[in-house]
Amino acid sequence: MRKVIEKDFRCLNGEIEIPADKSISHRSIIFSALAKGKSIIRNFSDGQDPQSTIKVFQNLGVDIEYISEKTVCVNSQGILYKPNSVLDCGNSGTTMRLSAGILAGRNFISILSGDKSLSKRPMKRIIEPLSQMGAKIISTKETAPLLINGCDLHAIEYSSQIASAQVKSCVLLAGMQAEGVTVYSEPYLSRNHTEILLKYMGANIKTDGFSVSIEKSELSPIDISICGDISSAAYFIVAALIVPNSKLILKNIGLNPTRTGILDVIEKMGGKISILDKQIICGEEVGDIQVEYSQLKGCEISGEIIPRLIDEIPIIAVLATQAEGETIISDAQDLRNKESDRIKTVVAGLRKLGANIEETSDGMIIPGKTELEGDCVLETSKDHRLAMSFYVAGLITKKEISIKGFEWAGISFPTFEKLFTKVKSN
Ligand code: S3P
Repeated sequence: MRKVIEKDFRCLNGEIEIPADKSISHRSIIFSALAKGKSIIRNFSDGQDPQSTIKVFQNLGVDIEYISEKTVCVNSQGILYKPNSVLDCGNSGTTMRLSAGILAGRNFISILSGDKSLSKRPMKRIIEPLSQMGAKIISTKETAPLLINGCDLHAIEYSSQIASAQVKSCVLLAGMQAEGVTVYSEPYLSRNHTEILLKYMGANIKTDGFSVSIEKSELSPIDISICGDISSAAYFIVAALIVPNSKLILKNIGLNPTRTGILDVIEKMGGKISILDKQIICGEEVGDIQVEYSQLKGCEISGEIIPRLIDEIPIIAVLATQAEGETIISDAQDLRNKESDRIKTVVAGLRKLGANIEETSDGMIIPGKTELEGDCVLETSKDHRLAMSFYVAGLITKKEISIKGFEWAGISFPTFEKLFTKVKSN
């Protein structure tokens, strides 16, 4: 689908709710499937990725159904059954890596597969620790499909070279089935929704800085309401910052500190942004974000903040093209392992728009403010975050642009365009 970004508005204005957090949506289904009893998950994400997680766990014999438009009921016996077919994770790395951690400890054979993009993404990062725990996993080239011959696992102490919440969650879920105490440590803290939700559901889990330990645990069912996704809110935040005269209020957004790197960057850049009405819901910080058009300056983004904004780097790159002075993004080499090689694809797209931006091995350099030209077609590389980042860039180009493959936005945010239409104002 080719989408033309129309210039049918003057600014962005209003108050909106952003759809549910994708990471928490996945985890709420997976952990409820492990808990004996009935869990209710309210405000569940309508993205295609969390739908893949639902299908995988239905295929493993768990009773999961929608009881209203956004409410899912998971009725589990706490047992998973040998699936009748291949478990299709679609485009979703979180579905595959978290499911692998569970299936490694179950007494049956299963196969996890994915679409073309997911089949190219590295799985050695989970095969290695799971194999150390005694898991039997077969794959060609250490990518999907993964054949998992489930067996009894034993605990390990694992020190990861990368700050990845998917790897951490995979090992913790395997550790929760293993004899002994599994200890996982990472170089910087990656998103900690797994730790928060498992603890909330009664798991034997302890965190200590960048380290987390887990023992065999029984989970209790939950009744939760999922907050809005800060990674989806990021497109509206950046749009308000760069479209003159804009002001938006985004309601009920997840503000877990392991996810709010983008807010820190915006403050450093001089953006006018504030948090209203902060509270804690089911262990997660939540609040409203108010943001308005701002004069911005460039900044350096590296080190511990990278895992806290990893999915926002494409949209931060768009923002940096509108800031005075240099922005340098480094230590973000894992961006090359996402739904596309996001260092390459973001730089190529923004250059096509006329932005001054350079690719580096572990990030990018954006020397300063450039007017974006437009009058071209951008490729999404079948990557939802590129589709949405380029849409936002297209709001401020001199001439109209079109985006090829815009439908990929639906992987995380099917109502993205509808919500933009709601806040466009004349
Ligand atoms: C996610 C973790 C991150 C992130 C992805 C979602 C999660 O991936 O990029 O979109 O829900 O655990 P990595 O663990 O590969 O960094």
